[in-house]
Amino acid sequence: MARAAAIVEKFRARYPASGMPRVWRAPGRVNLIGEHTDYNLGLVLPMAIDLACWIAAASSDDGWLRVYSEQLGSGSQWRVEDVPNASPIGDWTDRVAGVAWELSRRGVELGGVNLLIDSEVPVGGGLSSSAALGVSLALALGGLREPLETAKLARAAETDFVGVPCGIMDQFISASGQEGAAMLLDCRSLEWRTVKLPEDVAIVAANSMVKHQLGDSAYRTRVEECAKAAKRIGVSSLRDAEASKLGRLDGTSLKRARHVVTENARVERFVSAAATGDGVEMGRVVTESHVSLRDDYQVSCVELDFLVDAALRVEGVFGARMIGGGFGGSTVNLVRPGAVEALKGTLAKEYRKFHGSEPEIHVCVASAGASEIII
Ligand code: GLA
Repeated sequence: MARAAAIVEKFRARYPASGMPRVWRAPGRVNLIGEHTDYNLGLVLPMAIDLACWIAAASSDDGWLRVYSEQLGSGSQWRVEDVPNASPIGDWTDRVAGVAWELSRRGVELGGVNLLIDSEVPVGGGLSSSAALGVSLALALGGLREPLETAKLARAAETDFVGVPCGIMDQFISASGQEGAAMLLDCRSLEWRTVKLPEDVAIVAANSMVKHQLGDSAYRTRVEECAKAAKRIGVSSLRDAEASKLGRLDGTSLKRARHVVTENARVERFVSAAATGDGVEMGRVVTESHVSLRDDYQVSCVELDFLVDAALRVEGVFGARMIGGGFGGSTVNLVRPGAVEALKGTLAKEYRKFHGSEPEIHVCVASAGASEIII
C-alpha cells in the first residue's frame, strides 16, 4: 500500500491537472531451470519475484499518450492517432509505443492517457525488467484480461514492434506468477502447473552489474542457430529433437541443440528433485545447466562464470548458474537458508576484488503475477 500511495503522489506531482490514477504492478522473475528453451518450445521453470514494475495511469481527454519513468528520468509522448503508424526508435519508450501499437492492431481503441512508471526491477539486471514493463503496460493501457492473454499481448509487442525475437517465458511468469511457487510451463502447449520449492532451499539472485542488451546480443543469432539445427534434424523445433538424432549435427549446431535437449531433461530432473525436497540434486542440475550454457550454448561471460564459481565454493550452496539471455545480468543461487549471509559476504568481497564493484544481491520471494492495486 505504501508503495502504491507513493507512486500516486509522484504521478500527481508530474501530472497535476490529471485525475486520480489507477495503479498496476507486474513482477520481474528468476528462472530456476530451462534456459533458452522457451523459443525452442521446450520447458521452463521461472518464478515471479518480489521486485516489480509499478505504473500509475489516468486517462486524459487531450488525445496524447504520455509516459515518464522515475528510474530513467526520461519520458516521451505520442498522439494516440499516430500510434498505429509508430516505429521503434531504439530506446525504452519503444515498449510503451509497442504495447499501444499492439493493442491498436487488435482493434482496441485507445484514448489519451498519462503514465508514470516506477520500477524496482534493475534495468538490464537479467531479472526481466523489460517483460515487467511490457506486462504492466499491457494492463495499464489494455485493462485486465486472462494472464496468458496479457502475456501474449506483451510478447507480441516485444517481438513484432520492439524487434526482440524472445520466447514467452518472461511475459508469462510476470503475468501469471503465483505466491509461494515456481511455475512449470510447457512452451509448446502453454500448459502450466505450480511447483512448490522445499523450504530449506533459498533462492538468491546476484546481479553481475554487467548490462546485457538482449536486442544487441547474440540472442537473435542463437534463435536462428536453433531453427537451423532443428531443420537439419528434420523437426519443426528443437523440442522434438531426440538425443539420439543429435549425431546428424556437428560444430555449432550440435552444441546449441545439445544444450536445448539436455536442458529440457534437466527441467524434468529438477521438478522431480523439488517434489522430494532434494536440494542437493536440484543444485546439481542447476550447476550442470550453467556448464551447458557456458560451453555449449556460449551465452555466459567471465563475470557470470566468476560469480558461479565463487558461490559454489561457499558451504551450503547447492548450485548456481547464469539466468536469462546471458552476456551479463544475474546468476541464481540455490542455498541453504542458514548460508545466505555467508554467500552474500563472499560474493561481495570476491566480486569487488575481481570486478571493482559489488554485485546487487536479492533473496527472492516467490510472488504473485501482475495485478491492479486498489487504493
Ligand atoms: C530472455 C528472453 C526469454 C528467454 C531467456 C532465455 O530472458 O526474454 O524469452 O529466451 O532470455 O531463457
